[in-house]
Amino acid sequence: MSPGSARVSVRPPAEQVSAQQFAEDVAFYLTQTPRQLPSRYLYDDLGSALFEAITRLPWYRLTRAETGLLKTHARAILAACAPLTDAVELGAGSGAKLAQLLQARDSGSDALRVHLVDVSRSALTAAARLLVGLPATQVITHEATYEAGLAEFRRNQAGAGRTLLLFLGSNMGNFDPPQANELLRQIRNALQPGDLFLLGADLLKPERELMLAYADPLGVTAAFNRNLLVRINRELGGDFDLASFQHRALWNAAESRMESYLVSTRTQRVRIPEAGFELSLHDGETIWTESSYKYSREGLFGSLQDAGFARRQAWVDEDAQFALILVQR
Ligand SMILES: C[S@@+](CC[C@H](N)C(=O)[O-])C[C@H]1O[C@@H](n2cnc3c(N)ncnc32)[C@H](O)[C@@H]1O
Repeated sequence: MSPGSARVSVRPPAEQVSAQQFAEDVAFYLTQTPRQLPSRYLYDDLGSALFEAITRLPWYRLTRAETGLLKTHARAILAACAPLTDAVELGAGSGAKLAQLLQARDSGSDALRVHLVDVSRSALTAAARLLVGLPATQVITHEATYEAGLAEFRRNQAGAGRTLLLFLGSNMGNFDPPQANELLRQIRNALQPGDLFLLGADLLKPERELMLAYADPLGVTAAFNRNLLVRINRELGGDFDLASFQHRALWNAAESRMESYLVSTRTQRVRIPEAGFELSLHDGETIWTESSYKYSREGLFGSLQDAGFARRQAWVDEDAQFALILVQR
């Protein structure tokens, strides 16, 4: 492919992230103890836009730290992966971090296929638009969960080239340790021997910093969280009264994770007709919407090793306490 002939292919959704699935998940998770909603549903169009706003907040340092590491070490990362034919990013969001890395490719580099896996259609559209502007780059979007996107990549892999798979933004932190370890194994199984995996992970840091990042003084994170109720009202005909729910962030030291909740500020009954159920909430009752695990370096290396990866290199932003780890299958 010559520079300028870049293009985007859109794969049909590998797993139906459909209205029916959303309705079933809402009904199932809201009736669990504790009540909860899967964090992947935070990312409708408005949710993705609000997340981008969060990345610009002075208190959310993660994105700037990781982008800085990618900028500084792009050449070392690309050299370790050469000759690269495929880059796969899980939960790419805006695609800005991958673009930051790939901008360091030599002019005249061989053609590269970029596979973007994300449940957010608007994020995929924005990322594809950004990345397709890079020379000799074909972009393939997969509107799918991580697991479905990985399975699809594996099925369609040409097999001839070398792949770099990226899981950035500490997205892994949304999974509890057994789920995260299972996902790491699935990532390994989607790769061929010699392929590389780049993991971005947020490290343990003082509680005060974490609280500012997940309950910012401007209320953008609160809007991001409460938008999940707006989404349920719009897509499933719900009647959540937004004024009766507050955002709450908590540091759970025993589990090493930030937890995000929506808290009912009064006793109330909520109807969600498209999900076929009603919900009674008492004053102060919570709905758990997100976990963001924070890691020790040793814990991360141990998990990657257990999943069958060999360590290549690691870079840490010591100020923001964020790690970028390159391992090989
Ligand atoms: C926290 S944002 C991070 C975006 C980007 N990686 C970054 O570091 O800025 C998470 C992204 O992953 C997507 N996402 C969340 N859960 C997902 C899942 N289970 N499967 C696929 N995509 C998911 C969201 O739509 C969103 O674009």
